[in-house]
Amino acid sequence: MHIDIITTLPKLIESPFSDSILKRAQAKGIVTVNVIDLRQYATNKHRTTDDYAFGGGAGMVMMIEPIDNCIADLKAKREYDDIIYMSPDGQRLTQSIANELSLKKNLILLCGHYKGVDERVRQHLVTREISIGDYVLSGGELAAAVVADAVVRLIPGVLSDETSALSDSFQDDLIAPPVYTRPAEYKGWKVPDVLLSGHATKIEEWRHEQSLERTKQRRPELLD
Ligand code: ADE
Repeated sequence: MHIDIITTLPKLIESPFSDSILKRAQAKGIVTVNVIDLRQYATNKHRTTDDYAFGGGAGMVMMIEPIDNCIADLKAKREYDDIIYMSPDGQRLTQSIANELSLKKNLILLCGHYKGVDERVRQHLVTREISIGDYVLSGGELAAAVVADAVVRLIPGVLSDETSALSDSFQDDLIAPPVYTRPAEYKGWKVPDVLLSGHATKIEEWRHEQSLERTKQRRPELLD
């Protein structure tokens, strides 16, 4: 998979990709990530990529021309499955969207700032919009990092077997069961006996029951 991230704040997005799973996925050659500074595509002498909103009002709007030029440049090099605009009013990110995106080959993540992008970017240049939740961030960069992380870890070969994504919460619309490690007893707080029994079927049953119980208690709407 190849991911291009378009941003006016490249530094903000570099660190999540230089550590842990996103770093490993790149080192293994499974994913390539390219952060593009939108200012390179600014056409005015001050290299600005935003301007006042027509009709007035507070807040700057990101201009269409630098974004269009940047996307055109990228499209000349490869074909994209999706050009995604990170926006609080986009489709809410779920595990199922992450699964879907993990099957794609080339993605662009466009990060907005200020009051967002000129509406014509949304109408004519992007193919979908994703939000990471009902709150407004200062920009799309952290949201793009969240999407990239959620997606990349699902690509076969990125995670080792022991951290397999198949047992994650939400992967089967259930919350993951509780987990324990040594010591088996700490300050009198004990690990459930079944986990120490060595009985694989019973452990599997217990985990499934716990998943169901947790989902009922914490996120009942997932069971609907
Ligand atoms: N940009 C600003 N807020 C955002 C959000 N909640 N999700 C995605 N992009 C955003």
